[in-house]
Amino acid sequence: MLFVHSSRLSAGLLAAMLASSLWSTAVHAADTTPAAQLQHWSAQAGTPGDAAKGQTFFNAKHGAEWSCASCHNTPPTTQGKHANTGKLIAPLAPAFNPKAFTDTAKVDKWFKRNCNDVLSRECSAGEKADVLAYLNSLK
Ligand code: HEC
Repeated sequence: MLFVHSSRLSAGLLAAMLASSLWSTAVHAADTTPAAQLQHWSAQAGTPGDAAKGQTFFNAKHGAEWSCASCHNTPPTTQGKHANTGKLIAPLAPAFNPKAFTDTAKVDKWFKRNCNDVLSRECSAGEKADVLAYLNSLK
C-alpha cells in the first residue's frame, strides 16, 4: 500500500519535473532573434545601429585591459576563449552560431556583465544597436 502510494507519488513528481523543464526550455529559448534585437536597441536609441561604429566599439579597449574581441575574437565569427578562464565561447556573430541572440534573458545578462567588464559601466542602447548591426553584417 505504502509502496504503491510512493511510486505513484514519484511518477507524479517526475511528470511535474519533466513538464517544468519543457516549459522552461520553451520560455527561455528562441524568444528573440538577432534582427529583433537590432530593431529593439535601435528603437530604444532612436537611431539605427551603425555596423562601422559597432566594429570600432567592439575592437576598442576603452581605457582598460579588455576589448569585446579579447574574449570573442576579431572578427567574432569563430569560437572565442575567455581571456581569464580559458573557457571556450561559441561564436558571437549569428551567422556562425544559430543560438546567438535568441534568448532575451541571456543577451541581457551578458551585455550587462561584459560591458561592465570592458567599460566599467553598462553599454548604452546606441552602443548595443551598433554592435548588433556589426555582428549581423558578418557573413
Ligand atoms: C572576459 C571575457 C569577455 C569579454 C571581454 C566580453 N565577453 Fe561577451 N561573453 C563572454 C562569455 C563567457 C559569454 C557567454 C557565452 C556562452 O555561454 O554562450 C559571452 C556572451 C556574450 C553575449 C550573449 C550572446 C548570446 O546571445 O549568446 C553578448 C551579447 C556579449 N557577450 C557581448 C559582449 C560585448 C558587447 C563585449 C564588449 C563590450 C563583450 N561581450 C566582451 C565573455 C566575454
